[in-house]
Amino acid sequence: MAKISQNVLEDIKARLSIVDLVSQYLTLNRKGDRYWGLCPFHDEKTPSFSVLPDKGFFHCFGCGKSGSLFDFYMEMEHLTFPESVRALAESLGIQIEEENPQEKRKRNEREVLSELYTKLAFSFHYILTDGPQAEHAREYLRGRGIDNETLKHFQVGYAPSDPSWLYSFLNKKNYSDTLLKNSGLFSRTGSFYPLFRDRIIFPIRSWKGEVVAFGGRDISGTSKAKYINTPEIPIFRKREVMYGLHEALAMIKQEDSVILCEGYFDVIALYRSGIGNACAPMGTSFTHEQARLLKRYASKVHTLFDSDHAGKEATKKALIVCEQVGLEGSVITLKGAKDPDEFLSRFGSETLSRTAGTATAGFDYLVHSAKLVYDSNKATGKLQILQELTPYLQAVDSHIVRQTYLHELSRHLQLDESALLHDFNQESRNTPGMKGEREQTAHKEMPQDINVAHVPTDLYLMLIIMNNRELFARVRNRVPIGSLQDSRAVTLYTLLENSLRDGTSSSDELLLSMIEDENLRRLVVSSFVHDEFTTQAEKSADELMNRITLRTLKREQKKIEHLIAIAAREGSSEQDISQLLYDKKGIDEDIAVLIRKSIQ
Ligand code: UTP
Ligand code: MN
Repeated sequence: MAKISQNVLEDIKARLSIVDLVSQYLTLNRKGDRYWGLCPFHDEKTPSFSVLPDKGFFHCFGCGKSGSLFDFYMEMEHLTFPESVRALAESLGIQIEEENPQEKRKRNEREVLSELYTKLAFSFHYILTDGPQAEHAREYLRGRGIDNETLKHFQVGYAPSDPSWLYSFLNKKNYSDTLLKNSGLFSRTGSFYPLFRDRIIFPIRSWKGEVVAFGGRDISGTSKAKYINTPEIPIFRKREVMYGLHEALAMIKQEDSVILCEGYFDVIALYRSGIGNACAPMGTSFTHEQARLLKRYASKVHTLFDSDHAGKEATKKALIVCEQVGLEGSVITLKGAKDPDEFLSRFGSETLSRTAGTATAGFDYLVHSAKLVYDSNKATGKLQILQELTPYLQAVDSHIVRQTYLHELSRHLQLDESALLHDFNQESRNTPGMKGEREQTAHKEMPQDINVAHVPTDLYLMLIIMNNRELFARVRNRVPIGSLQDSRAVTLYTLLENSLRDGTSSSDELLLSMIEDENLRRLVVSSFVHDEFTTQAEKSADELMNRITLRTLKREQKKIEHLIAIAAREGSSEQDISQLLYDKKGIDEDIAVLIRKSIQ
């Protein structure tokens, strides 16, 4: 990686506090000198994610993730360290020096793609509203009752049917063939045959508002695919994007809730009925990534999926995902139409808006729909209902809530609660997969949060020094690197030594970025949030240095005693032996002094 100058890092930190950065992604509350919020890296319902503005670090006591402003940004935006520094610098208007060609290419590709999609969305929209070749598209949308204001709000567009149009249009704008080949706009066969032809175009935006993909609806009626979406490209990760989220963000925050529907026209139908907090996972099932994204802005999710079988299955899955990430899930049911769009055209916006305001709690919905399918009067039916609900109940985090649900279920099924509980536990063992995601991620991400009692002396000392850099000079005088036994301590010592030479010792980020061992890096970061490494640092460091010196002296003492024994056995000269004895006396005295000091 090209070296990033420390000035840039310092400039960024001076202009953007970690609290401000983190607040762009989650809600923080101040308590004392720390801020607290719900961790974006693991699923939780009570805040264990803390930000220490003075130190410029975050730390999650739940999953153990911690780091600087740059680590946070890297993680949230899936960027490497240099990429994140560049992106932050750019957004703050800070100049940075040249990067290496590979980095530049990668960054350029993302930037150019993003710019390409944004421009193209604009052009498609222009063609839809004003292009002579889009008359039938306008007719189609009018037929579906969509007004111009709505088209504008979502920047709906039209992709011309002429297969040569797109390439020549973009070629004229000087986009390279290589970029266009990887743009996701053309078929993969190599020729520049556009993916979207004679289609209504829905620009798909990231939560920040950049156009990252398109969804295109066929209007010719001759295509096999009703919809085509942009494939995964560097700026588009399907699992993490939701259609309409950016447009709905303000309303979602205001309502503290999101309406989850299936597709483009559903989001639009709801908007037309005055419901601005809807978005859609676009034909794929609602992912944990999307759920976490929503959780940054709201605590409640109301599903409003199609009323067909697939929609019901999607509802059940979404309720489980909601439980797993700690979102409160409930269900809006439509009667008399297959989806919100059809409902709107059939019953009008007032009825849709009223219906969308009535949601059934997730658990009640699941019990009710299971009872419609299975006979709750028969033993087998009762068991099937329990089986149906087991994945959801497993996803419920709180024991109290789960207990309450089981209690309710026992009433619904007219069963003894303890019998139900027994069978539930049995079922849980048989369905290990469903709870999977949370347990796996929790396990995978669970780091070694520092157990202070178990940190070896050398490492403990170096962690204190990492937290109190001014003490390093003293360590260098008293503890030579060769006397350290712990390899991680040696790494940190070397790092401080080098950075002292380069004059980079003042930047935590830079120091951290130089630690290659991921575990050590985490350990250092978590030391930044543990008081043990900062309170009475000088005294602790002195004690630890004494301990290390004592250890070294005792080792030398042993060595010399061994030498004396050999010398005596081999009949060495008096002079040699007395020299050894003299040396030993010196060591004995040093040890005595140290011990006396340590008991004072
Ligand atoms: P639907 O088939 O329910 O379409 O798919 P729709 O939204 O009701 O559209 P209209 O009203 O028939 O025009 C729901 C969503 O699934 C995705 C799209 O995001 C769509 O909006 N989908 C569907 C695809 O990605 N590809 C497809 O072929 C079909
Ligand atoms: Mn639909």
